[in-house]
Amino acid sequence: MDLLRPSDLSDEQLDHLLREAEHWFEHNRGTDKRADRLGGRSIALAFFENSTRTLLSFDMAAQRMGAMVTHFPAAQSSLAKGETLVDTALTIDAMQVDALVMRHPEPGAPETVAAAIRAAVVNAGDGTGEHPTQGLLDVATINHHFGRVEGLKVAICGDIRHSRVASSTHALLERLGAAVTLAGPAALLPEGHDGPDGIDAAVAGADVVMMLRIQRERLAADLGDAPGEYLARYGLTRERFATAAPGAVVMHPGPMNREVEISGALADSEHSLISTQVEMGVAMRMAVLDLAINDPASGD
Ligand code: NCD
Repeated sequence: MDLLRPSDLSDEQLDHLLREAEHWFEHNRGTDKRADRLGGRSIALAFFENSTRTLLSFDMAAQRMGAMVTHFPAAQSSLAKGETLVDTALTIDAMQVDALVMRHPEPGAPETVAAAIRAAVVNAGDGTGEHPTQGLLDVATINHHFGRVEGLKVAICGDIRHSRVASSTHALLERLGAAVTLAGPAALLPEGHDGPDGIDAAVAGADVVMMLRIQRERLAADLGDAPGEYLARYGLTRERFATAAPGAVVMHPGPMNREVEISGALADSEHSLISTQVEMGVAMRMAVLDLAINDPASGD
């Protein structure tokens, strides 16, 4: 099956992925990290946009599941000679891959490719669109820490408008029964947003505070903020975090801009789940690749 957005998953599939990710999370802490669910399968990773965590974790997830992994070298490819994205994808498909994991700057690009090829397509982030596996690893991390998602108060703060993480994580959190508040500068909130936009109100009493990077590469005009101004007005400082609920945690999908949207000391503190998110990223992508390849009929 293709995984292009969170709504591609049924409730059963979502539950299944949360359970499986928890299983692989524990498995990956063992000395023998091999699992053979995808033995003999071929997976191509095609990243047309920069990535550290997502690319590495898909690669490790595929390899730990026993698949053969090929990286599509976007910068050296025939795209530079004018070949279209769909022709490029059809070429990869003709090589009999079982799944194509794809990141692309244009929203909807994975959907276009999925409609054209036979292999399962997994969206690893499409511009300002969706990032379903990040949303999944975020809810799995919260579930791992608190033992539930339902009933938790979650503040998602920062550049909501340009963030595909905000879209996917928000959708999954609401689906699992969390109460989500969005906060950020007016220019970075979704169009038509009419809720409270102040970070102080969002963080007060929250169980989870999720900070997002300003996607300066996607901004039409720079914010024109002075150094330190963003952190003071919209960032997560220790003082603001002190108003969150007892036992509250800090999350961030990375890459993080320390002292811009988040205090570095807080990101490194015992309240931070940022490295658990990274660890869960590998586990969740093992579960996702297994579902996408071994359950081709589901979700279509
Ligand atoms: C995010 C992304 O690329 O969408 N990072 C990630 O996948 N962990 C967030 C970002 O770029 O700010």
